Amino acid sequence: MKDTRITCLSDNAVKLSSSLRGEHGIAFFIEQGNKSILFDTGQSFEVLSHNAEALGIDLGTVTDIILSHGHYDHTGGLLDAAMESRARILCHPDVFEKKYKRVSGEDTYIGMPWSEEELSLVSDITCSTQPTAVTPTLMATGEVQRQDPLERVPDLFLKESGQGLVHDTIRDDQSLVIDNGEEATVLLGCNHAGMLNTLAYCQSLCKSPITLVAGGTHLVAASPERIEATAAYALTHGIVVHGYHCTGDAASFAMRKEMGEQYGRGYVGMTYHR
Ligand SMILES: [Fe+2]
Repeated sequence: MKDTRITCLSDNAVKLSSSLRGEHGIAFFIEQGNKSILFDTGQSFEVLSHNAEALGIDLGTVTDIILSHGHYDHTGGLLDAAMESRARILCHPDVFEKKYKRVSGEDTYIGMPWSEEELSLVSDITCSTQPTAVTPTLMATGEVQRQDPLERVPDLFLKESGQGLVHDTIRDDQSLVIDNGEEATVLLGCNHAGMLNTLAYCQSLCKSPITLVAGGTHLVAASPERIEATAAYALTHGIVVHGYHCTGDAASFAMRKEMGEQYGRGYVGMTYHR
């Protein structure tokens, strides 16, 4: 039964001819029965709340906030969204690690701008590496099992450790699976675990065939070989792919070329009934 409505509230792109705002980030608002779930919170609450208001969405109704991982472009709106709603927060324990990105020899902090202590004053926080059912038909995957060598996390992603900065494999990266009994939808945050790994893992967690995957694909710097393999997987399994956020123009064009109309670019204001 199609009882889930999904709306993109934050993305790098916006619906044409709208008053919606874009930024480097992502957030989806998911309505299902008496549950309102926020999957990621964008880079800023300013943009998130502007877009929510423009789309007639009350962030005060949010019951659950699920984080895809701990980078700033997914968690920047978190503290205010939590204060507005008092929603419980569900995440992988590694979201609170101090995360960095090394570009041209310079290390820039890209982790969450809030501490666990600060957030826990506002909301109940549940940390889990395991798949967690949030409603009877919606689950957070927890840590994604990774097998595909094409999807190794690049060395430029770092995190603090006792030995200084070390490679961050971003184990906290998780996705959402919505299985309505007929078909399943996968929502991605930044998909650092890779789409081949994530889709195979998500399919192992749900009964219905996955027919739609939407969200940040992190194909932005992927090799042509990886893009080809990702498109081939989706085509073989009959999955429509909507790339948002960290997909990038070049990968979007390449995916469209490989997949035709089975690939599209997402934006703020896009909605799905699933
Ligand atoms: Fe991201």
